[in-house]
Amino acid sequence: MVSVSAPGKLMIFGEHAVVYGHPCVVTAVGERVTVSVEKTDDGRVIIEAPKVKNTTFVEEAIRQAKTHWNIPDCGLRVTTDSTFSSQYGFGSSSAVTVAVLDALRRFFEKKENKKELFDLAYKTILAVQGVGSGFDAAAAVWGGTLLYKKGGVLLEALKISGQLPLIVGYTGVKADTATIVREVADKRGKFPEKMDRIFDAIGKLAADAKQKIEEGDWERAGTLMDFNQEYLRDIGVSSDKLEMLISAAKKAGAWGAKLSGAGGGDCMIALASRDKHDAIKKAMTDAGGQVLEVVNCAPGVQMDTTDDQSELFVVVDKNDTVLGYKTRGECHADKTLMHRGIGLLVFDRTGRVLLQKRSMTKDTRPGYWSTSVGGHVMKGETYEQAIAREAKEELGIDVPMKLYKKHIIRYPGETEMEALFTATHEGPFHSNTEEIDEVKFFSKEELSSAITTGTIHLTEAVLLNLQVVGFL
Ligand code: MEV
Repeated sequence: MVSVSAPGKLMIFGEHAVVYGHPCVVTAVGERVTVSVEKTDDGRVIIEAPKVKNTTFVEEAIRQAKTHWNIPDCGLRVTTDSTFSSQYGFGSSSAVTVAVLDALRRFFEKKENKKELFDLAYKTILAVQGVGSGFDAAAAVWGGTLLYKKGGVLLEALKISGQLPLIVGYTGVKADTATIVREVADKRGKFPEKMDRIFDAIGKLAADAKQKIEEGDWERAGTLMDFNQEYLRDIGVSSDKLEMLISAAKKAGAWGAKLSGAGGGDCMIALASRDKHDAIKKAMTDAGGQVLEVVNCAPGVQMDTTDDQSELFVVVDKNDTVLGYKTRGECHADKTLMHRGIGLLVFDRTGRVLLQKRSMTKDTRPGYWSTSVGGHVMKGETYEQAIAREAKEELGIDVPMKLYKKHIIRYPGETEMEALFTATHEGPFHSNTEEIDEVKFFSKEELSSAITTGTIHLTEAVLLNLQVVGFL
């Protein structure tokens, strides 16, 4: 059996305008849809989806997957489950579509390619509901927070560490996205110039917001949210209930607030300093809203075993004396729990260094370039055993390695005692596509220029490691 899960989404900036080709900012939420696939003997395809009212997306996804990957007719049981109500507008249909496609892809051992998976999911969604920009499928596939353009012609992961300081309020009213999108299209037919001017302004604002979010300029990002809400009011998609919650959040001190999604109901979001969250949540509840506790910047579709949060890490003091064992989830949520990590820098004979681009499904630093091999020491392992295991798992190599140095690396949310190893190897590398999007050798000049032009982003660990060995 294969089991995968995909996240829901929240639109942060740019709804409606994205349908007309402008960029939007979307974040994946911690609420997930899980799909498992197993073979049955009787040749029938059985869908067990107790929490899904309408199984059309599941059925269409199975049809699309069979055609696309040439899957022969056979007996299958496809089971879905979800941690969230489809009422909230978190995009459960897109999440279930992506999860079904990815579960079938893995079950029939088809190659991993996120863009291909996205294209297939978008095709499935359009076949079922006829309209939409596909932003929700992008969030379900890649996770994190994305700058996105319709059809995936632009896809950029925002560089943020940690969470967006968001509060989510549900109006209690279910919105019908497809109907609202069609109403907006009718309005655009009647007032093309006015509507296109508004969409254009919303698109610019979304691109601007991406930059402010990456800079951590939340106050300005909040102001942009307020502007975005004004435009959404102008196109007529807000509602009294949404306005009540938005105004309550603003009065209680939010930097900005707006509806999230098609409008007419579903959810609103407020951006606010953490110390104001309790007061804002109370104000929104008093105004008749339901506060939803959801994390954002969640990982995209992944096998349920990837980055198992219950794995036991080795917790140490600054002299590397073992203090005890804590789970991955605990260590990544508390920077006082220094734990053992490992890194390997692989060089070729000309002195170029091999870096890996972390998969978008990683729980930390998705999409960043990092050390050739990296990971954690598990309970019962030595540093040497751990790095040998990771080198085999991540790159498919078994090479002699030298311990270069042991040092402490402090990330914004976690602290590692890292043993850095070096090795020489020319490849081939069989990189693990679960964990790594790409591996590539860089000369000193290539790497410095890519960093200066901002075409790649490095993890703190690889930056430090490359400085330690004198490469940067
Ligand atoms: C709905 O959540 C967001 C819209 O922009 C529609 C879409 O992008 O598919 C209104």
